[in-house]
Amino acid sequence: MAEINANHAGTLSIGGKTFNRLGYGTMQLPGKGIWGPSPDPDNAVKVLQEAVDLGINFIDTADSYGPFTSNLLMHQAFGDYSGKYNDLFISTKVGLTRQGPDIWTPVGRPAYLRQQVELNLRSLGVDSIDLLFLHRIDPAIPLADQLGELKQLQSEGKVQHIGVSQVTVEELQAAEKIVHIDAVQNRYNVTDRADEIVLDYAEAHNIIFVPWFPLATGKLAAPGSVLAKIAEKYQAQPAQIALAWLLQRSKIILPIPGTSNLEHLKENVAAANIELSTSDFDAISNLK
Ligand SMILES: NC(=O)c1ccc[n+]([C@@H]2O[C@H](COP(=O)([O-])OP(=O)(O)OC[C@H]3O[C@@H](n4cnc5c(N)ncnc54)[C@H](OP(=O)(O)O)[C@@H]3O)[C@@H](O)[C@H]2O)c1
Repeated sequence: MAEINANHAGTLSIGGKTFNRLGYGTMQLPGKGIWGPSPDPDNAVKVLQEAVDLGINFIDTADSYGPFTSNLLMHQAFGDYSGKYNDLFISTKVGLTRQGPDIWTPVGRPAYLRQQVELNLRSLGVDSIDLLFLHRIDPAIPLADQLGELKQLQSEGKVQHIGVSQVTVEELQAAEKIVHIDAVQNRYNVTDRADEIVLDYAEAHNIIFVPWFPLATGKLAAPGSVLAKIAEKYQAQPAQIALAWLLQRSKIILPIPGTSNLEHLKENVAAANIELSTSDFDAISNLK
């Protein structure tokens, strides 16, 4: 079984809690359009438990995945988080509402954010949230009100650490003036590096960078992927090369590939064992 700790990918920590640098994202577990129940809940529970057995201890979720489908599956998979699930570091998010498949609408009213923190705690079955992301800034509400409420929830012990998602450097700086920001979660992968500047800022300021869509929703994993040729050299799958590149791009990057497939999960975990040569790393960097 792969042990992420034992390889070059290493670990990251927030507030003294350490986790392996390759995590798992639960967004592929609900129904189509990230809406409704899982088409195969037993398999979803197995994927979550197998992720932990393979050494993953950082899991990213959100109340809006389903809504609540992913959180409830986690509660089912991990029970009361005792034993081997005791060390899990869970990030979840608030601030996006759902009106149907693939529809996401930001709502940042403090009372709503507070309700969603409470419902995250209840659906996950935890007393406190390790890391809470503001999923999207609601442009209709002052940022100080949105993050101010999360800061208040932090002082009440319901939230340990705070992050922001899909932000510009300016928004990240504005957020830092309101509350301590431990992590940022923006879209970033080999073929989508629009937020390179946010990554560079995060690296310079010791903020963990969690790239969402690390596999470009599967495009980078497909057989015809731009990474297919390099993957052959390493007797690896294109998805593994996409993840290995992210891990080598910066020590503060924490990829959270999503999958509902046990074989894909194993492949993704094993990607942490791949060390790209400098020339292959550079060749991939030049693909953009
Ligand atoms: N903050 C935000 O706004 C935001 C937005 C989107 C996502 N996220 C987070 O980021 C995580 C990752 O994003 P994502 O899951 O949407 O996209 P992703 O990780 O880029 O790609 C997931 C897709 O790739 C496929 N896949 C995964 N591993 C594979 C492998 N080894 N070989 C072939 N195909 C593979 C999956 O299908 P199978 O199920 O068939 O493997 C799925 O279709 C999410 O789970 C979520 O936690 C955050």
